[in-house]
Amino acid sequence: MQSYQEFLQEVLIDEETLQSRIGELAAEISRDYEGKPLMLACILRGGVMFLTDLMRRLTIPHTVDFMAVSSYGAGARHSSGQVRITLDLQTSIEGKDVLLVEDIIDSGNTIASVIQLLKTREPQSVRVCSLLDKFERREALVPIDYCGFKIPNKFVFGYGLDLDEYYRNLPFIGVVRPDRYIPPE
Ligand code: IMP
Ligand code: MG
Repeated sequence: MQSYQEFLQEVLIDEETLQSRIGELAAEISRDYEGKPLMLACILRGGVMFLTDLMRRLTIPHTVDFMAVSSYGAGARHSSGQVRITLDLQTSIEGKDVLLVEDIIDSGNTIASVIQLLKTREPQSVRVCSLLDKFERREALVPIDYCGFKIPNKFVFGYGLDLDEYYRNLPFIGVVRPDRYIPPE
């Protein structure tokens, strides 16, 4: 296993910048959802770090639930229009104000299908909170109601985002040097 220093091109967003922006988002969400039945729906696995830091800073009552979707196979770097729910929410969203918590919106295909599915379950509202927005790659029209950072079209890792499932634990968002990164067996 390589250590990340071997293929890190640059730290795109450092820990302090991430944490301070997450604090701002949490304050905004706490204001907007005051008095509402807020449910955070986190998309596994990339959204987990963001979710836990975000919820620690929310000052209003809320519940959390998880779902997982597979948009593309291991090693692939672009999602297709087809996404499959591999783990569904365990609780009803009927009448709830659902906020989808994602690590990154890239083509937008994943989140667009998830929104479409959830809307059939009669929630009060469904909105999107994404830490990162790789806006240049957008294919599906998705409004990002709460966006942490717009980023350029580079493959990033850390803070929940993986490289072949590893390196999610790093506290910052880094850019990969593709010519230096060796995928695990
Ligand atoms: P989309 O359907 O193209 O918007 O893909 C979104 C999903 O692709 C995210 O939830 C991530 O899991 C993954 N993804 C997209 N870009 C990156 C990246 O730069 N690093 C790591 N994962 C990424
Ligand atoms: Mg991923």
